Amino acid sequence: MAKVPADIPAAPGALPLAGHLRQLLRDPLGFVSGLPAHGDLVRVRFGPMTIVVVCDLETTLRVLRDDRIFDKGGLLYDRSRVVLGNGLITCPHADHRRQRRVLQPAFSSERLSRYAPVMTAHAREAAEQWHDGQIIDVNKLMMQLTERIIAEVMFSDALAPAALSTALDDLGVVIPGIIRSMIMPPQLAWLPTPADRRFRRAHTRLRATLGEIIAERRADHADRGDLFSAMLSTAAASREDDDGPLTDTEAIDQAVSFFVAGTETTSSGLAWALYALGRHPEICERVRAEVDEVLGGRPGTYADVPRLELTGRVVTEALRAWPPAGWLLTRTVARDVRLGGHDLPAGTTLGYSPYVIHHRPDLYPAPDRFAPERWDAAHRPRREAFIAFGFGARRCIGDQFAFAEVVLALAVLVARWRFEPLPGPDVRPSVAAGLAPHRLRMRVADHR
Ligand code: HEM
Repeated sequence: MAKVPADIPAAPGALPLAGHLRQLLRDPLGFVSGLPAHGDLVRVRFGPMTIVVVCDLETTLRVLRDDRIFDKGGLLYDRSRVVLGNGLITCPHADHRRQRRVLQPAFSSERLSRYAPVMTAHAREAAEQWHDGQIIDVNKLMMQLTERIIAEVMFSDALAPAALSTALDDLGVVIPGIIRSMIMPPQLAWLPTPADRRFRRAHTRLRATLGEIIAERRADHADRGDLFSAMLSTAAASREDDDGPLTDTEAIDQAVSFFVAGTETTSSGLAWALYALGRHPEICERVRAEVDEVLGGRPGTYADVPRLELTGRVVTEALRAWPPAGWLLTRTVARDVRLGGHDLPAGTTLGYSPYVIHHRPDLYPAPDRFAPERWDAAHRPRREAFIAFGFGARRCIGDQFAFAEVVLALAVLVARWRFEPLPGPDVRPSVAAGLAPHRLRMRVADHR
């Protein structure tokens, strides 16, 4: 483990062995948002592990721009590599350019236009299942919705309903297992507990299912218009001496990575947007009016996304206020470097936090206020200051996909239902690898 320079200020309140773990477990967001008060780079200790958290925008952007020196790695990614393999999310710089080139066409506008009707159709199906006055578990239902969407977008009809249901069940075990492994102390992360055994079983079966689909697709070479076809066909088309096609193991790693990256994040984004609209019924009414005017009752398409302007601003503001992927993301320093006035040795773990940046009052005045109007053309913040999807070469490949999905699903849900908060204490964010509204329950009231 690299020795972190002593001239970097330490966050206060570290205990001898645990470091800042107690503060972090008790109030992670309060803890990270207090860090900028101590400097642009701040030392934080999780037990024996020290990480340097970058707290200002310019240094964060420098780290994210230079992915050769500030490579994927550190706490979050080293652990998830065990499960996600060497897919796009976790791979080091050395493998990244090739993988990204091979996968990018699967997210082209033309492909997204084909995926959008799937998003709308599943949102409509979900919305039809509720009844007036029902209290819904928002996280759970949004997770089911985003899982169904990604499964169909990825595999279209490749999975028979029973196999799809097993794959979704497996995914429901694998995702929390990965998240658990990321946030647990290393000694406890893979203990052979019943939960770990369940995880291993589900993980093995999910990879086997994906392996079978790949074998079929490779055999018939048909492009079925889904993400998996796009991934395999562009990979096959790439020149051997340049990018080289994806191996089966790599293709499975990518598929698992898309599942993991594309479900929990998007469902949290959707859940936070519904939460915000429930607390701001006047904004919700305006969103509904916009949806009625733009769509007039027809299903939304990819071309409608930019037309749903206010809906989009609500989604952007929800992603700013509660960035689903990012209260703390990590990098590893690949060679000795000077950063923010300090010399960092190779091997230092850095952390960056979209949450911290999005709550800096110098970038976002009154950062705790939910204010979609900050995204009006007249006073839009600096583009680089919005890092819910990261920044630079490792920026989210699914950003347009996710934005379209949240906007289109929100349009369907809000047109059909009013989402009312329940009395009681305000909802807290639950912080695991990402940021989701903890036990968010809301009452749905028929709007038609
Ligand atoms: C609201 C939803 C989403 C949010 C907030 C989000 C956020 C992020 C962030 C912050 C990163 C960069 C991580 C880092 O810098 O360490 C990232 C990377 C990534 N995301 Fe997303 N994501 C979302 C949805 C999706 C979807 C729908 C997919 C795929 C279908 C996806 C696939 C990926 C992949 C593959 C990467 C790695 C990209 C690379 O390193 O080249 N994400 N995402």
